[in-house]
Amino acid sequence: MANEEVDTGRRRFLTATTAVVGAVGAGFAAVPFIKSWNPSARARFAGAPVTQDISALAEGAQLVLSWRGQPIYIARRTKAMLATLPEMDPLLADPDSKASEQPPYAQNEWRSIKPDILVVIGVCTHLGCAPEFKPEVKPEPFDPNWKGGYFCPCHKSRYDLAGRVFKAQPAPLNLAIPPYHFQNDTTVVIGVGPNGAA
Ligand code: FES
Repeated sequence: MANEEVDTGRRRFLTATTAVVGAVGAGFAAVPFIKSWNPSARARFAGAPVTQDISALAEGAQLVLSWRGQPIYIARRTKAMLATLPEMDPLLADPDSKASEQPPYAQNEWRSIKPDILVVIGVCTHLGCAPEFKPEVKPEPFDPNWKGGYFCPCHKSRYDLAGRVFKAQPAPLNLAIPPYHFQNDTTVVIGVGPNGAA
């Protein structure tokens, strides 16, 4: 009975994840083409702030958008996901993000403004591949004790659910956090910090 409930929950979760990633993925895939469409699209590609409604982002899911030609991952972490973060510290190369790149308002235990909402640049700090979102706690081929996080398929670097890199990985640093702020409870603006700083 318990297994059935877990499986049902997992199916729901996977469906939600696929839907959000699929919908946003379509927008992201279109970015290289809109570059030639009009001046505002060119400005957007070059670095203008990007506004994203996250009201449809389910717990445990992630969406992907583009800012300055880079993928930005926005994930809504569950309480259980957040609870794994302190446990990960001994396994990490830079648990306090002292050497890694993030704005001061995101240099905390969650690496975020709101504890549940992670906003991170989806570019591996090794050679720039896009790490994959692997949020489920389950044994993975690359880590039998996987607690959820990001896995880079290029050279197998692992990051936790705050984008913090494990020790002894090809990637030297945590995933970078871009400047961002919340326009309101459900709208994130990428590219501008809470005080208007870029
Ligand atoms: S680019 Fe990610 S591990 Fe090499």
